[in-house]
Amino acid sequence: PKVIYVSASGAEQAVDALDGESVMATAVKNGVPGIIGECGGNASCATCHVWVRDEFLSLVGEPGEMEDDLLDLGVGDRRAGSRLSCQITCTPELDGLTVDVPPEQA
Ligand code: FES
Repeated sequence: PKVIYVSASGAEQAVDALDGESVMATAVKNGVPGIIGECGGNASCATCHVWVRDEFLSLVGEPGEMEDDLLDLGVGDRRAGSRLSCQITCTPELDGLTVDVPPEQA
């Protein structure tokens, strides 16, 4: 599946993801700026925060409990589409998933 990362300046980076890999790991592997993944995907650092575009929100689903807490505590600008990208798994259904990378992380 393809994942499209959009920087604060509007630059888009489309990346081929592996099925089953997280959106965070895919970004780190491909050098997408602003997605750091400091905790290695344990939902404890919030350096992988992204805003999922509206049209993909229902496919991605709601954040889990730990993720929800960390979004409250660790994210400067939490929006409806805020998710920790380490908690989103790339699947064929999510092909074309588009996420915005918050400017403070870039
Ligand atoms: Fe640390 Fe996602 S990589 S919370």
